[in-house]
Amino acid sequence: MSVFTLPAFAAQENISKQERQKMINTAHRGASGHAPENTMTSFQKGFEMKADYIEIDVQMTMDGELVIIHDTTVDRTTNGTGYVGELTFEEIRNLDAGSWFNDDYTGEIVPTFEEVLDAFHGKIGILIELKAPELYPGIEEEVAKTLKDRNMHKPNNKKIIIQSFNHESMKKSKELLPGVPHGVLAGLSWAGITDEQLAEFASYADYFNPNMNIVTPSLVGRVHEADMMIFPYTSRSQKQANHLINLNVDGIVTDYPEHVYSHPVHHS
Ligand code: G3P
Ligand code: CA
Repeated sequence: MSVFTLPAFAAQENISKQERQKMINTAHRGASGHAPENTMTSFQKGFEMKADYIEIDVQMTMDGELVIIHDTTVDRTTNGTGYVGELTFEEIRNLDAGSWFNDDYTGEIVPTFEEVLDAFHGKIGILIELKAPELYPGIEEEVAKTLKDRNMHKPNNKKIIIQSFNHESMKKSKELLPGVPHGVLAGLSWAGITDEQLAEFASYADYFNPNMNIVTPSLVGRVHEADMMIFPYTSRSQKQANHLINLNVDGIVTDYPEHVYSHPVHHS
């Protein structure tokens, strides 16, 4: 058998501890393979698993509260129904955000942005996604104010990153928070991205974070050439994590932080 038939599998098994540990390990919606996504429990789990960042999805209730939930409706991840933007904070707060995942998590609630910042900033990095910001006029200003109130907007505050699929929103947010690194998210339709488009993103963004299925060695090199970092999403298997490590990305957004690197648990 030619060696050229081997690399995909063989190289995966040959990843050094150093190569694994230099990856920025980002717990997607918290350690969402292990606990209900976007809850304080999944974020705590990400912290305990020694991820470098938790990734959170920020949206806004009808009455202007910033809450952490992925879908634009509450239907999938709570026991309620309706659009996030058409429910009051009190209505959302009374929903159960854990039992859909497993009965053990009954009683989990939808956290606020402020609660997550106050509980986790300084303990673990926070990758803040503005989810569907076009639905929430003024959300960029609210996020900026919330960060500034906590002095989390300074240039040296590298453990806060803001990202979105809505690139106009990121341009606006970068103007409001010039000291905070920003990222553009890119779905499958960006597979053919040009160097000119990367340069345009790099004029306001520090990260180009694509769907992992469009990542190639060439794309990684071109993102680096454009002076950005690349955190692809979303790895859900050991094989996918290994593949991304072999592609020399900077960080991996994963539901399972242990796939990037695991730390021995010491029992006393
Ligand atoms: O960090 C990127 C990733 O979170 C984007 O996808 O749909 O899980 O928010 P999604
Ligand atoms: Ca997200």
